[in-house]
Amino acid sequence: MKEIFFDTIDSTNTYLKQHFEEYEDLTFVSADLQTAGKGRSGRTWTASKGKNLTFSVLIKDEKVMEKFASLSVLSAYSVLKVLKSYGIKDLSIKWPNDVYVRDDKICGILLEAVSREKMEALILGIGINVNEEDFETDLLHEPTSMKKVLHEDIDIVSFKEKIYQRLNQTIEELKEGCDLYPEIEKYDYLKGKDVYCMIRNEKRKVTVIGIDADYSLKVLCDGKEISVSSDEITFHL
Ligand code: BTN
Repeated sequence: MKEIFFDTIDSTNTYLKQHFEEYEDLTFVSADLQTAGKGRSGRTWTASKGKNLTFSVLIKDEKVMEKFASLSVLSAYSVLKVLKSYGIKDLSIKWPNDVYVRDDKICGILLEAVSREKMEALILGIGINVNEEDFETDLLHEPTSMKKVLHEDIDIVSFKEKIYQRLNQTIEELKEGCDLYPEIEKYDYLKGKDVYCMIRNEKRKVTVIGIDADYSLKVLCDGKEISVSSDEITFHL
């Protein structure tokens, strides 16, 4: 595992996308400030300087890249476990890649692939709200942070160490074929909820059955059980 730190950068995901050939598998790149942090679906990710954890992991191992579909959920689970060790309660995974405390988002994950003829690398970008208290957001719900939940300042350096270790461990377990699904099932935020999703370009209201063993999301639509992809879920009720 190799670690790189930037005081300021546009985006740790963008940096690794541009420089993936120069670095080894499991290079972790973090920054105190991202000037063009990226979120999912073309959104931006904003985080005040030095108050949060914003980093990306370069993945080049073929075995791990093959498990692309499970990587977001497994990473969210790794973050959840570390947050739990800090005493945070009511944590869950909002499929495919957010960590929630009750109904408030505390962590977002952006998984990007670098592909030419074949998939060359994966960039796993993670943003965790640590000591942030005021959020500029276009989201319906204001996000939360560790400080907002625990009412104390968190030492970001030791938190980062714990997160890196846990992610490393999860990626090793994934290579060895460990099945974390029975654990993950317990933390399914969307389970049983009615959500809207786009199915064949049509907005449909469905009831979520839950995260499946293959890490897709099973929903009930017109009485039929179907799997949806992460791009299809738009928002929940
Ligand atoms: C989301 O919830 O929309 C995903 C947010 C992902 C943010 C992280 S912060 C580190 C990495 N670099 C980026 O530009 N984005 C990800």
